[in-house]
Amino acid sequence: MNHSRILGVGMYVPPRVWKNDDLASVMDTSDEWIVQRTGIKQRHWVENSVSTSDLALEAAKAALENANVKKEEIEMIILATLSPDHEFPGTACFLQAKLGIPGVPALDVRQQCSGFIYATSIADQFIRTGVYKKILVVGAEVHSKGLDRTTKGREVSVLFGDGAGAAVIGVSDSPDHRILSTHLHADGSFAKELWVKAPGLAYDATVRVVPEAIERGEHFPAMNGKTVFVHAVKRMPEVLMEGLQKNGLKLEDVDLFVFHQANLRINEMVAKQLGIPEEKVFNTIDKYANTTAATIPIGLHDAVKAGKLKPGMLVASAAFGSGFTWASMIIRW
Ligand code: ACO
Repeated sequence: MNHSRILGVGMYVPPRVWKNDDLASVMDTSDEWIVQRTGIKQRHWVENSVSTSDLALEAAKAALENANVKKEEIEMIILATLSPDHEFPGTACFLQAKLGIPGVPALDVRQQCSGFIYATSIADQFIRTGVYKKILVVGAEVHSKGLDRTTKGREVSVLFGDGAGAAVIGVSDSPDHRILSTHLHADGSFAKELWVKAPGLAYDATVRVVPEAIERGEHFPAMNGKTVFVHAVKRMPEVLMEGLQKNGLKLEDVDLFVFHQANLRINEMVAKQLGIPEEKVFNTIDKYANTTAATIPIGLHDAVKAGKLKPGMLVASAAFGSGFTWASMIIRW
């Protein structure tokens, strides 16, 4: 069996920044409320003409450059998103066309905040079994265009930012640099705690897209914030410890934790429960808000750039989100 490793990471956020005060000018909210409840200070939101595959392309190009890999060497694309360019075909197909590598398989992953770890896990399996040698894994989101940016939608819309992160995953030739494991979970009985209700093909054909549903705002994400919070602070430590135990590792062995960024308070509670020192947790939520599937690769990229994540270090990630889905990954960087 081969092992895989991350050869390089890249990220991209659109240039336009929305500070909390900018949101307060379009809805009834405040910088104080958002910072206190979430730790978010600003987020990047796209201009109207920009889509998820556009952001994915920029992050992919950056990851290829940082990995020193040519796009022609990529044998598969896996793209995680909850904000696809279109209902179908998958956004990985649009990314593949924009990258200009026709013929390469292009797969979408729809596991929300856990999407990047799910996508990395799939890439890891293909590389371990020797099917492919180099895979491009991307997490990308354009949330802003799908949010209710009025007071009615404020509980959800202040939380999300647009962005993309990418990793080139290849064969490892050293035990000092490799993906040790990924652990994936889901519980679909909570699917409706954080979801977009309509349009959907679950409905009778005559009510699939009706003006009344739009008037009710069913095309915007709806979240039971407290339920999500309670499950997140339980599942993230659980799946993190599952990963460490499977590898015979202890929390103290981990050099850096790059968690999903849904709410700073969630990560503070996870760290407190486990006794993880603050300086070992790399947070980015103040700058980007929750960029869902893009969050973890953006975090890995920024940690490398900040000099906090260096070759040979042990880095652990855990994520929780809509589905519910949750996952962890342990990497010897
Ligand atoms: N600005 C100002 N006030 C607000 C806002 C806002 N943006 N949003 C809600 N409020 C108000 C509410 O209306 C409520 O007012 P009331 O007391 O008069 O009724 C008050 O603030 C308190 O609201 P709560 O819901 O109790 O606030 P809470 O402390 O629970 O924080 C939050 C809400 C931030 C959403 C929190 O529940 C949370 O972070 N949940 C988890 C989110 C998450 O993890 N999402 C998952 C990932 S996303 C994914 O998978 C796609």
